[in-house]
Parts: sequence; C-alpha cells; structure tokens
Amino acid sequence: MTEVVKKPVKITETVLRDAHQSLIATRMPTEIMLPIVDKMDKVGYNTVECWGGATFDASLRFLKEDPWDRLRKLRDGFKNTKLQMLFRGQNILGYRPYADDVVYKFVEKSISNGIDVIRIFDCLNDIRNLQAAVDATNKFKVQEGRGEAQVALSYTLGDAYTLEYWANMAKKIEEMGADSICIKDMAGLLVPYKAAELVKTLKENTKLPIQLHTHYTSGVASMTYLKAVEAGVDIIDTAISPFALGTSQPATEVMVETFKGTEFDTGFDQNLLAEIADYFTPYREECLKSGLMSTKVLGVNIKTLLYQVPGGMLSNMVSQLKEQHAEDKYRDVLEEIPRVRKDCGEPPLVTPSSQIVGTQAIFNVLMGERYKMATGEFKDLLRGNYGQTVKPMNQEVIDKVIPGEPRSTARSAEATGHDKPELESIEAEMKQYKQQEEDVLSYALFPQVATDFFKYRQAQQEKVDVSAADTKNGAYPV
Ligand code: CO
Repeated sequence: MTEVVKKPVKITETVLRDAHQSLIATRMPTEIMLPIVDKMDKVGYNTVECWGGATFDASLRFLKEDPWDRLRKLRDGFKNTKLQMLFRGQNILGYRPYADDVVYKFVEKSISNGIDVIRIFDCLNDIRNLQAAVDATNKFKVQEGRGEAQVALSYTLGDAYTLEYWANMAKKIEEMGADSICIKDMAGLLVPYKAAELVKTLKENTKLPIQLHTHYTSGVASMTYLKAVEAGVDIIDTAISPFALGTSQPATEVMVETFKGTEFDTGFDQNLLAEIADYFTPYREECLKSGLMSTKVLGVNIKTLLYQVPGGMLSNMVSQLKEQHAEDKYRDVLEEIPRVRKDCGEPPLVTPSSQIVGTQAIFNVLMGERYKMATGEFKDLLRGNYGQTVKPMNQEVIDKVIPGEPRSTARSAEATGHDKPELESIEAEMKQYKQQEEDVLSYALFPQVATDFFKYRQAQQEKVDVSAADTKNGAYPV
C-alpha cells in the first residue's frame, strides 16, 4: 500500500474583515471580536484577515474606534495566529495615490502594530503600483522579523485576460519580490473548471504559494474551491458559517468537512469551529433583526455571471438610477457597462475602477449621447492617472473626452504628482490632533473622517479629565 502524501489545504478566516464587510457594511465592532479571539487562536488558521480599507474607514467614521487600537488588541489576543490585511497598492487604504514615503510608513506601522501578511492589489493590475508596498514589506520584514508581501491578481474576464496573461503577471510578481500570490475574485466570476485551469497554469509558472479568494455571490464558490484545491491551490479564504455565503465567502466548516480524510485534510476540530459559530450566531440574528444584514445579500445573484458585473456594483447602479428616477434604464446601463469598460482599456471592475466605469455608463445612457459628459474620475482614468490598462483605450473616446490633453504613461504616484515625500506636510496639517505617530497616517488616508474622530476622541478624553477632577470630591464617573 502506498501512503498518501498529505497536503493539508490552509485556511484564511475572513470573519473579522471581508465577511462582515460583505454582509453588514463593515460594522462589526471590536467588542464583538475580542471575546472569541482565544478560541479562534486555537483553530490553526493560516491567517485571520482582520484589517483593510473598509474596516479602517468604518472604524473611524461609524464606530468611532481607532483602527490601530483594534489591531493592537487583536495582536494581543492572537498569540499563535498570523494576522492579515488588504492593501490598495499605491492608494494604501484610501482612494488616491500616495507618495512612497507614506506607503513605507503605513507598511511599517501596520507590521509593528501586529500585521503579518499584507495582501496588495491594484485596480488596473498595473504592477508598478504594487512595487513600493512590496519593497516596504520586505524592508520591514528584515527589521522586525515579521511581514509577508502577498500580491493579488485582480481577477476579471475579457479578451485580454488569457491564461498567458495571468501566467506572465505571476512571473512578474515573483520577480518583484512577493512571498505569495492571491487570485482575488471580487465578484465570484471564477467558475470551478476555469479555476482548476488557472491554478494549474500559475503553478507551472511560479514557485510561490497560491491563495484563492472568492465570494459566494454567484453560487459557485465552494465548488470553485474544491476544483482549485484539487489543482494544487495552497490556501483558501473562508468565513465561519454565520457570516458565510451570499456576498461573503464559502463557510469554513463546510470546506473543512469536504476535505476530511483526504490528502487535503485541514485537521481542524469541528467542535471548536462549532463553538466559534455558536458565538457569532446571536450577533448574526441581531444584525438581521436590525436590518444591518439584509436578506438581499444572502441569496444567489446569478446576474453576476450573466453580466460579469460585481454584485456591489449592481446595487450601487440601482440606487444611482433610482435617484435619477431612471430605473427603466437598468438594462440599457447593464449593456453599456462592457462597452465603457472596453473604451477605457478593459480594466478589472474593483474599487475604484468599478465605480468609475459604472457611473460613466449611467451618464452615457441618461444623456442620450455617449461621452457627452464625463466624470472627473473617468477623465483621470483616460489621462493615465490610475496607471496603465492591459488594453489600449479607444482613441475616439479620448479625443472626445480629453481633447488635446497630455496623457501619462507613468505609475499612478508620478502621474498624479505624488512623486516627492509628502508625509511631513501631511503631519504639519494635523499636528494639533497627533497623539501617536499612527494618527498622521489615519489623517493622510481619510482627512475629514479622521479629523472628526480626533475631535470626538478629544471630547471623550476631556470628559474623563473633568470626571477625574471630580474623584477628589468622591464622585466617580461611570
Ligand atoms: Co473580497
């Protein structure tokens, strides 16, 4: 009898980041997370994803929490498990390109406050927009003995996106010094047999570990994982069942059970997973009751596959059309989206390119003439300010929208004039609020939201000070 060579599939748990971002608009507060950290730490996850652009923004904006403080608390709790974050390349966790000194500082502070694995992506798959973040991670890995750079392929469909294209990108990612590659399928477009093909091709072209990230939106995700694991994918992203399925990830327990007794057996304890699920179930019920979690995001949205438009983009489009009292134009806009996408070089549809293409498609339909009006962001995309697209853009559209204007071929930071250090000037703008170095970075990413938070924090602290003075009189604050 030949012994089966074990190749346990590794699992990244997303409940503390993508799962609640996808299902409850990123509103899970730290106080819900902390009591279950001990148990989660015993599972044996490859990583726990817990930080990213939306978690950072929502913490400051809606929850009035310092995201850095959340990260430090999670780091304290997870003694044995690596923590993972999502990083928007040169845009860091924000919406515009930053100078390299800000990227470096952010990476340094992310790692020193507790992040182990940084997943870095670019909305155009322009490798140049990823390099600074990868270099920064590698620099601080040497200094702190921690930190891994994982580069993501923003997965999409289209003429340009052949197996050869993905293989070439994987080779470049390996050359640029990344530790691993992620296939980042934002919309759930990757179907099972295509996933097997893609994983096999990547494995033939790079030695780096491959992680697969998808969403259940179109209903195929757990089958996609099965085929991808059989084809050799090393790591998959899953969410504990109360925060799985719908627009979130496949359920952790289901994937664990699927591979039990096979060469891919995770070895995870289902009883422990059940305890973790039991912990999150009442919170899920609460979210359903309050309407924070809508049943709309829980089913299968097959339109994702029909129109190849991410689920989040569809719901944005519907609300934009509603505002304009033009819901009857829904189908026209859906058909216009692929045309606009072709005109601007067929980019993946992920933040921010999804919003840029979607809004321009609405303009084109509602104005009754294509490109009669263009948004500032669409003009920037044509100018090359987000970087280079995989295919050339439509010259006629360029001539109509930005006639005679210069177009950049540089990476996004240079194209937008963020080619010199800017950290000092950012700090000068906000120094009255600075209580920790990390505050400068919060302000750099979300100036208005961070300022509001700093003022809130100050008010809270002053209240405590006033009360502290009262303690002398024997009155203790509650
Ligand atoms: Co995702």
